[in-house]
Amino acid sequence: MAIRAVAQCHNIDDLRGLAARKVPKMIFDFIDGGAEDEFTLRRSSDGFNSYQLVPHNFVDVSEINIATEVLGRAVDAPLIVSPMGLQKLFHHKGEEALVPAAGNHNIPYTLSSASSTSIEGVGNLSSGPKWFQIYVWKDREIVRDFIDRCKGAGFSALCLTVDVPITGNRERDVRNGFALPLKLTPAMVLNILSKPCWLYHAKRNPLPTLANLVDRGEGDTSVANLSRYTEEQLEKAISWDDAAEMKAQWDGPLGIKGVLRAEDAARAAEMGFDAVIVSNHGGRQLDHAPAPIDVLPEIVEAVDGRCQVILDGGVRRGTDVLKALCLGATACMAGRPYLFGLAAGGQAGAERAMEILKGEIRRDMMLLGCADVKDLGPQFLRQVG
Ligand SMILES: Cc1cc2nc3c(=O)[nH]c(=O)nc-3n(C[C@H](O)[C@H](O)[C@H](O)COP(=O)(O)O)c2cc1C
Repeated sequence: MAIRAVAQCHNIDDLRGLAARKVPKMIFDFIDGGAEDEFTLRRSSDGFNSYQLVPHNFVDVSEINIATEVLGRAVDAPLIVSPMGLQKLFHHKGEEALVPAAGNHNIPYTLSSASSTSIEGVGNLSSGPKWFQIYVWKDREIVRDFIDRCKGAGFSALCLTVDVPITGNRERDVRNGFALPLKLTPAMVLNILSKPCWLYHAKRNPLPTLANLVDRGEGDTSVANLSRYTEEQLEKAISWDDAAEMKAQWDGPLGIKGVLRAEDAARAAEMGFDAVIVSNHGGRQLDHAPAPIDVLPEIVEAVDGRCQVILDGGVRRGTDVLKALCLGATACMAGRPYLFGLAAGGQAGAERAMEILKGEIRRDMMLLGCADVKDLGPQFLRQVG
């Protein structure tokens, strides 16, 4: 049933619609929503409309190559799964569905620090590239512990998220009673009862929690307690020295996620970071922060080829990926497209999202007159508005 339903989704927006029908409203809104007035959330996708793609004719496009290299690994497409916490809330298999999906498509999967499957649990789920998203924790022992565990579990890269000194003000979650502590309204209870498949699995499986932190809860492993612990532990006085220390400890490919200023990107490149990930956290943190696509050109210029630049956020179409690559990104991270797929139909849904984006990229390159993703550049773009 799930496979048939996801096969009938022809674009990411169709998967979003199916996800909305499958999971309770409070869960859907947790995926779909952004901070405050959601200006940044909307702009992150709308910003791609500031560019048109201008086709070159008389180009041999009988063979299209969309494979590339990201953080030292050959990948089948310029796509990366962004880190997203608690995936077992969206589908009972959570990371156990999304990691193999990414592995089958040979695109990197980034495990969130707040994942509902542990670092060790994810290590064996696929042979594809696996990255781990890390924060600077006040207790630096946690940082050391995560790094050691990632090395042991075969993760190939780290992604340091720097835009969460505090969680953004996501009003859909507050209104839905989804903020901690959980407050279920009668309307929400009725809504949950109207999603029998999600409810069936929710009742048969243990409650999802922050699997990497269960030994930090002093006996209380509930998501509420561990989320509170995480919020307290997020370092609010993060400095470039912390970033340098992490680089020395990890001693492998390292990206920095949440960069929106050219000077920060230049500093990261100068320090030897391997990738700058241009991101506003999917519009979930500071509302009215710029869209990644809007600041990408100045960041590419500041980095000046010293490290890779990855765009994260707002991507819903293959043409969005082409535009980012034309502006100098190596690849695009995306979050919600794969979560919509996961919520809509588990691994099959997540793979459908990957298939859709890959298929669009391939077709659009042919239409654009560009046979290899490495040849995309500003010659194909026209800025409007
Ligand atoms: C439900 C959800 C959970 C997220 N959790 C994390 C997280 O744990 N760590 C992190 O660095 N970013 C997290 N993000 C942000 C994503 O990594 C990414 O920046 C964002 O989703 C990109 O925007 P997009 O969804 O439009 O592609 C989360 C996003 C969503 C939607």
